[in-house]
Amino acid sequence: MPQVVIEHLSKVFKIGDSQFTAVHDANMTMEKGDFISIMGHSGSGKTTLLSILGGVLNPSTGHIYVDGQDVYSMGDSGLADYRASKIGFVFQFSSLVPVLTAKENLLLPTIFSPNRNGGREKRALEYLELVGLADRANSRPFQLSGGQRRRVAIARAIMNRPELLLADEPTGDLDEETEAEVMEFFDRINRDMGITFVLVTHDRILAEKAKRRFRMHAGKLSDVSQDTGRVAAARTV
Ligand SMILES: Nc1ncnc2c1ncn2[C@@H]1O[C@H](COP(=O)(O)OP(=O)(O)OP(=O)(O)O)[C@@H](O)[C@H]1O
Ligand SMILES: [Mg+2]
Repeated sequence: MPQVVIEHLSKVFKIGDSQFTAVHDANMTMEKGDFISIMGHSGSGKTTLLSILGGVLNPSTGHIYVDGQDVYSMGDSGLADYRASKIGFVFQFSSLVPVLTAKENLLLPTIFSPNRNGGREKRALEYLELVGLADRANSRPFQLSGGQRRRVAIARAIMNRPELLLADEPTGDLDEETEAEVMEFFDRINRDMGITFVLVTHDRILAEKAKRRFRMHAGKLSDVSQDTGRVAAARTV
C-alpha cells in the first residue's frame, strides 16, 4: 500500500460571489522514502496542494490517505495529531518565533508531540550542526541572516521525526553555496532517515534532482518524470 494516496482532490476558493479553483482533480501516490518535486508557475496551486497535504487546509472535494487513513475524516484532534506526528513543514515564508533562540525554536514542535520528544535537546543540537549552525544555537532570529533563519526553519521541520517532509520553496532566498548545503541536508533526511520528501520549487535544476517530478499548471497536477526522461534521452542521441 502506498504511504500517501491523493484522490480526486480539488480546492475551490470563494472570492465574493465568484469561485476560483486552485487545485483541480489532483491524483498522486507516494511510496515511503520517495523524493518528489513539484514545479509550476506562480499561482498554479502548489502551496494550496502542499497545505492540504500537510493537514492545514481542508480540500473542497476528494481525499488524502496517509498510511491508509483518510486525513480529513479524522476530526480536529486527529488532524492536529496528524500534523504533529507525521508532518514536517517548511513554509514558503517561514517564520521563527522572534523571542526564542535557534535551539528553542527547534524544541517548539516537540511540545505538541510529547511521545516523540525523547532526546530532543541532543537532537536539536545535532540538527543545528547538520545545517551548519552549531555555533548559533543561542542566537535569536534577529541575530541571524535570512539564509540562516531558513536553515533553522528546515531543522525545526524534522524535529518530530516526521514521515513526510513538505518544503515550499525552501531555498528561494539562499545563495548558491548555501542552497547546495541545504539540498545536501534534504538528501540526507530523505536517503538516510527514509523520510518522504516533497519539494516545491521554481528551480528546474533542483526539481530534476527528484526521483519523481510533477508539474502544476492552472490547478492541474501531472507526472512529468517520463517526459523529462524522454527529453534527456533525446538530448543524448
Ligand atoms: N485563501 C485563498 N483565498 C482565495 N484564493 C486563494 C487563497 N489561497 C490561494 N488562492 C489562490 O489560489 C491560486 C493558487 O495559489 P497558490 O498559493 O497555491 O499558488 P502557488 O503555485 O503556490 O504560487 P507561488 O509560486 O506564487 O507561490 C492563486 O490564484 C491564489 O490567488
Ligand atoms: Mg506558493
